[in-house]
Amino acid sequence: MKEKLQEIKKRALEDILELKTLDELEKFRIKFLGKKGELTLVLRDMGKLSKEERPVVGQIANDIRQEIEKKLLEIKTELINKAKREKIEEEKIDITIDTDEIMVGHRHPLLKTIDELEDLFISMGFTVVEGPEIETVKNNFDALNSPENHPSRDLSDTFYLNDELLLRTHTSPVQIRAMKEMGAPLKIISAGRTFRFDDVDDTHSPMFHQLEGLVIGENISMANLIHTLDIFIKELFGKDMETRYRPHHFPFTEPSAEVDVSCIKCRGEGCEECSFTGWSMELLGCGMVHPKVLENCGIDSEKYTGFAFGMGIDRITMVKYGIDDIRLLFENDMRFLKQF
Ligand code: DAH
Repeated sequence: MKEKLQEIKKRALEDILELKTLDELEKFRIKFLGKKGELTLVLRDMGKLSKEERPVVGQIANDIRQEIEKKLLEIKTELINKAKREKIEEEKIDITIDTDEIMVGHRHPLLKTIDELEDLFISMGFTVVEGPEIETVKNNFDALNSPENHPSRDLSDTFYLNDELLLRTHTSPVQIRAMKEMGAPLKIISAGRTFRFDDVDDTHSPMFHQLEGLVIGENISMANLIHTLDIFIKELFGKDMETRYRPHHFPFTEPSAEVDVSCIKCRGEGCEECSFTGWSMELLGCGMVHPKVLENCGIDSEKYTGFAFGMGIDRITMVKYGIDDIRLLFENDMRFLKQF
């Protein structure tokens, strides 16, 4: 029996070296160590041995089993590692590989609009300034003469960071910064992100973009405001575009107006797009800077007057390119962006 065991051991340790796959390994295990495996079958005959011989043979059989198991584990680990290495090698991406395709990117339609708007105003003598997206409540509301109970100050309308800081709800606070830093006279524009607690739909997004303009000087009047904005609209949309100034209210301007422009599609004829009115509504807000706002910034309101305006850049981009859903501007879907 001892010889039989030694013979099994010799054969097993030879066969083990031939194992190439986990499948073969499992078959081998069953063949030698399984319930009906060779080693097990030999031990079944232990009853035939003498009392003295039994533990000796048992010990030998156990040692052999352990030796085979140990060897099997080593080989199993090696096979698993080998499979892993092969998989990694197989899935490797060669990032240096040459392809014929050269991908050239381009400006996002929103940034294109901002560039175009800035160029237009620069050509009219405006300077471009920047303001922070995190603003003080003072600059965003108080200094702009927005009363404590104004709905735009509501928690459900505005992203507050704490009692004093918020994500700016419009670009108008840049006016305050510019007046305080540079004083009068002044002729600036500022474009950037603005934030309001709006639910997302095809025309609303909690993050959107505005462009703000401010002119302060001696003898600045509503006529200057209308002339500047008329030129701007004609340059942007075409010479045949008309403007319409509707009285409105903004806390920081007096008087205030909202500006409509001819429907971009029918150029004023009347079509489905403009509900047959001939007008695209509310393209921008504007007005004469409120004397209180000038005084809040240390500018003599007896000597200086000024006008200001603010517009939604997303809206202008949508009108310009015929985009009917604001979400398309922020989702960065390449199929959409490739068109511009
Ligand atoms: N800040 C206004 C808004 O977000 C837009 C605006 C209106 C800006 C009139 C102005 C202005 O500078 O004079 O709705």
